[in-house]
Amino acid sequence: MRSTAQIKGHPLHPILIAFPVAFGVAAPTADLVGVLGAWPTVWATGAYLAVAAVVSGLVAGVPGFIDYLYTVPPNSSAKKRATWHMGVNLTALALIALGWAFRDPDTLRPGVGTILLEAAGLGVMTVGGWLGGTLVYRNQIGVDHRYADAGKWTEETVAGAPGAGVDVGAADELKVGQMKLLHANGRRIVLARTEDGYAAYDDRCTHKGGSLAGGVLACGTVACPWHGSQFDAKTGAVKAGPATEPIRTYRVEETGGRVRLILPPA
Ligand code: FES
Repeated sequence: MRSTAQIKGHPLHPILIAFPVAFGVAAPTADLVGVLGAWPTVWATGAYLAVAAVVSGLVAGVPGFIDYLYTVPPNSSAKKRATWHMGVNLTALALIALGWAFRDPDTLRPGVGTILLEAAGLGVMTVGGWLGGTLVYRNQIGVDHRYADAGKWTEETVAGAPGAGVDVGAADELKVGQMKLLHANGRRIVLARTEDGYAAYDDRCTHKGGSLAGGVLACGTVACPWHGSQFDAKTGAVKAGPATEPIRTYRVEETGGRVRLILPPA
């Protein structure tokens, strides 16, 4: 699923998290070395590194939160994992920030509580990183894994009265095997062009909520990118598991070189 907070397809969140991780490692290290060696400049450096860890973590969280809202499929296992990822990392930053309370206000000398909280924050941040890695490497959040001839990732918002047809593009906009994600009256619907004409179906895989718009469409079958469930693009029937429930499909009409989606009830 292509990241929303990206530059030329490069997701910003993974780029920025290098900073809080680096500062998060360096802060307790400098504090410990400073105290053990009785070097005030080293522990003062640790204090500034702790501030840098918290600030850069919050900055890195901004594109992460944008992807959380707009890229991670709703009602999916990845959404739950992403919620944990966010909560765990915010906890890590809070622990590091709390360590400041145990510093001497004049010399910035860290107390035992400072070093313990910074180390705990680093440990919690590692768990957050593990969850983030699962989001990328298993759920493919931010990974643009489009196959040859799949075309560019396309999204469009359409609206209309329930039961009415709404124009969703020219008949030749998509090639056979290509898909477009529609946000229609609050629903995520995939418009797909098969060898047998246009089809439309829910963007949500019935197994664990994978985005089918990010999957593969071939020979009238759409395959989920997460665990490989396959569905008939026209009927929604399951062709291969692990999914057992069909996906919902929608009526599509092709007239006068235009494609119309019949919007479902809200
Ligand atoms: S979410 Fe598991 S196969 Fe789609």
